[in-house]
Amino acid sequence: MIIRHSLAFRKDKITLYPSVLMKDDNSLPTESSFSFQRGTYEEFYAKSIEKPKEFWNEHAHILDWHSEWHQVLDQRKAPFYRWFIGGKLNLSYNALDRHLTNYRRNKAAIIWVGENGDEKIVTYHGLLKRVNALAQAMRDSGMQKGDRVIIYLPMIIESVVATLAAARIGVVFSVVFSGFGAQALADRINACKAKMVITADGGRRSGKLIDLKKIVNEALEDCPSVEECIVVNHMNNPVEMVEDRDFWYHEVTAQKHVQVEPEWMDSNDPLFILYTSGTTGKPKGVVHGNGGYGVWAANTLKWAFDPSEDDRWWCAADIGWITGHTYIIFAPLLLGVTSIMYEGAINYPEPDRMWQIVEKYGVNILYTSPTAIRMLMRYGENYPSKHDLSSLRELGTVGEPINPSAWEWYYHVIGHGRCPIIDTYWQTETGGFIISPTANLGIGMLKPGSATLPMPGIFPVVLDENGEELGINEKGYICIKRPWPGMMLTLYNDDERYKSVYFSRFKDVYFNGDYAMKDKDGYFWLLGRSDEVIKVSGHRIGTIEIEDALVASGDVSEAAVIARSDSIKGEAIVSFVVPKIGVRKEGLQEKLKRDVRKAMGPILVPDEVHVIESLPKTRSGKIMRRLLKAVYLDQMPGDISTLENEASVTEIRESIERFRKEIKK
Ligand code: PRX
Repeated sequence: MIIRHSLAFRKDKITLYPSVLMKDDNSLPTESSFSFQRGTYEEFYAKSIEKPKEFWNEHAHILDWHSEWHQVLDQRKAPFYRWFIGGKLNLSYNALDRHLTNYRRNKAAIIWVGENGDEKIVTYHGLLKRVNALAQAMRDSGMQKGDRVIIYLPMIIESVVATLAAARIGVVFSVVFSGFGAQALADRINACKAKMVITADGGRRSGKLIDLKKIVNEALEDCPSVEECIVVNHMNNPVEMVEDRDFWYHEVTAQKHVQVEPEWMDSNDPLFILYTSGTTGKPKGVVHGNGGYGVWAANTLKWAFDPSEDDRWWCAADIGWITGHTYIIFAPLLLGVTSIMYEGAINYPEPDRMWQIVEKYGVNILYTSPTAIRMLMRYGENYPSKHDLSSLRELGTVGEPINPSAWEWYYHVIGHGRCPIIDTYWQTETGGFIISPTANLGIGMLKPGSATLPMPGIFPVVLDENGEELGINEKGYICIKRPWPGMMLTLYNDDERYKSVYFSRFKDVYFNGDYAMKDKDGYFWLLGRSDEVIKVSGHRIGTIEIEDALVASGDVSEAAVIARSDSIKGEAIVSFVVPKIGVRKEGLQEKLKRDVRKAMGPILVPDEVHVIESLPKTRSGKIMRRLLKAVYLDQMPGDISTLENEASVTEIRESIERFRKEIKK
């Protein structure tokens, strides 16, 4: 299957249509066959836009508040919007305690499935006990409201416990994806000056052990703010514990049959920091608060997927990303839903792992990524057809545009034509879904490849370079006109960067970096990033991070990274490097890949490394990435009058040809 990223002309009409969204045979997705019942969406949405105060006064009551807000929205310091002013609440209380007073006490909160087949079911009551025990242990070691804890854990129940324990005592948590390497981890610890790290002796991925503690030990050599490290014994992996710094999780939480009073947090107190990639410099620390984020998480899950009391919800993401934060942990637990959590690779030990879990646990709603769907689709229909998938009612996707072939496979082969595809578009910064079909409000017509219509409270517009609103089917920058409760509070310790990244490109709107267009029915089609951010298997990566990691290896003086399309991963990483004088070229590609993997983790490792003598540059010394991409794609490079070193283009072309010949062999 080919994914095309350029724009193509639709033959019957003179409209620009994104070819990424067309089927392999170039036909357009048929609309009529994907119609579902329409409900109250239009009315509901209109109210959210026309009477936002009234609307949010009502819908913020999806949570229990310790004290009620006196003002819904404070815009005086825009773009630092603040929601539910004066309101106090605690999200661990909302996710746990309040369910215990009713029939959910003994209901499964989390069903955990290990890659090796282990299984653990924790009830709401059991989860609260664990959260209290860890919250007390954190307090005993001196953690106080506002301190930061880094959570560097695999997909195990303790990762849910750790986030909720931090939330309970007002400690700001920052989860670092367990696939990141020592340097990436140290950078994040230092950026927020965390006092504590919670990690494990290891994690599993495709049958292999990932020695997390070893990575932490290496990172902590360079992290003076960390006083204590709590280590979960998940794998019985022998690890090096540092005296007076490292403590076993089971020891510090033993004997703690305690009730820790929730810290009543101001609605706009920070809940967590999540580092995410941008176009320049170090990752950005996106800060989310308690009130607005909680209200957004719970409502968006309800509106988009409408989970019912008995449903089993499986968000097959990782807690290291925003999807895991919002839709494995907070949203389902705030609603009292049973959340399924899987530790390992979805094609391990066999390609039917996902379908086996759906069958065994009777999953009703499955939420995963286009990359996962494309990967599982490659194995063919035999794997899903071995399993009874009749429990499924809805299917969701997130993270990247979904191409119609994958959409239709998901719809027909997995959902047997019964389950709507809920394509949810959002970002780390938005806290939860911003464009998505809404099962709770009636789905209506689905168009494969479109995330459909805005969530209540979201007012998206598509703008051109000059900030003018574009017409139907015209591609431009998608921006959001009004604040919504789930939006980030700021970038950690960097209010200026928050303003300049998101609110300076266009006046008075939130600019989020994506291309999109709106069709005649008001449906939004997301068309990829407009900046130097790429999406590899749904992971958000700044090309600059990879370039920095390549240069940090010490062997190259310069590096430039572009993305090419990949039929499974969406995008793949192509790098061009100039070795330092005296560095041997033999074996350099492999060494660079190893170095990047160790420092930053496997997701940043380039798929291609081209070793060249010079990069194409403008006379003022800027690397011409646009030209690199054009040469790579064999396209017209556009204006190259400012190019200084034409010879580099020939060299690059030759390197690409050599690489292609090599892989053909
Ligand atoms: O480019 C968009 C893409 O993912 C970006 C956000 O990445 P991240 O902050 O890591 O959050 C991922 C999980 C929400 C967006 O700017 N993206 C996300 N969902 C979709 C999408 N692109 C198209 N369709 C989607 N459903």
